[in-house]
Amino acid sequence: MSQQTIRVWDPVVRVFHWSLAGAFLIAYLSEDDFLSLHSFAGYTVLGLLLIRLLWGLIGTRHARFTDFVRPPGEALGYLKDSLLGRAKRYLGHNPAGGLMIIAMLLSLLFTTITGIATLGVEEGAGPLAGMMGGAPRFIAKATEEVHEFFANFTLLLVLGHLIGVLFESVVHRENLVRAMISGDKPLRDGESQ
Ligand code: HEM
Repeated sequence: MSQQTIRVWDPVVRVFHWSLAGAFLIAYLSEDDFLSLHSFAGYTVLGLLLIRLLWGLIGTRHARFTDFVRPPGEALGYLKDSLLGRAKRYLGHNPAGGLMIIAMLLSLLFTTITGIATLGVEEGAGPLAGMMGGAPRFIAKATEEVHEFFANFTLLLVLGHLIGVLFESVVHRENLVRAMISGDKPLRDGESQ
């Protein structure tokens, strides 16, 4: 008998996720050497973020921020329960994952905004060129440093995210990556559509 499944991640969330992962990777790797590719990937990240922020307000059940944004204390409690092997299974994002997602979204937002500012001040290009164009050298340097800091900080969060996904997949004996591809998770006893 085939196992019953439930739709958890809608197409917007899935396309957003894999496009974001790809665009971030391209932006990170292209850095200074391929400026047009780097800017294109950065704008793509920003566009995806804006779509996801809107979808977090009006999207399907598990896509909404109200479904997965919890106070840090709850996230810590969930992590502790996970380590003790007694964490509850969530169909959507668990409280610790939710906190990490908010951290990644904010860090990506800061990275893209400071990237656009750097483009304006260094190259006199992009939407902030008018505002940043004539800025003194030390401002240009500081903007670039802050942009690099957030890019590296995002990478650190992504590593934490990947460890978290792997860890939770083991703890709950389910393939979370497959669920983010197909959108579906197997239903377990006591769970309903
Ligand atoms: C091969 C690399 C990656 C894998 C395998 C992966 C896997 C996943 C999985 C399984 C989830 C769902 C977690 C859950 O069940 O609660 C998820 C969510 C998420 N991941 Fe990743 N991820 C990857 C790369 C990235 C990267 C590079 C970023 C950011 C730049 C990222 C950002 C996110 C975000 C923002 C969510 C929340 C999705 C949403 O609700 O819209 N991921 N990821």
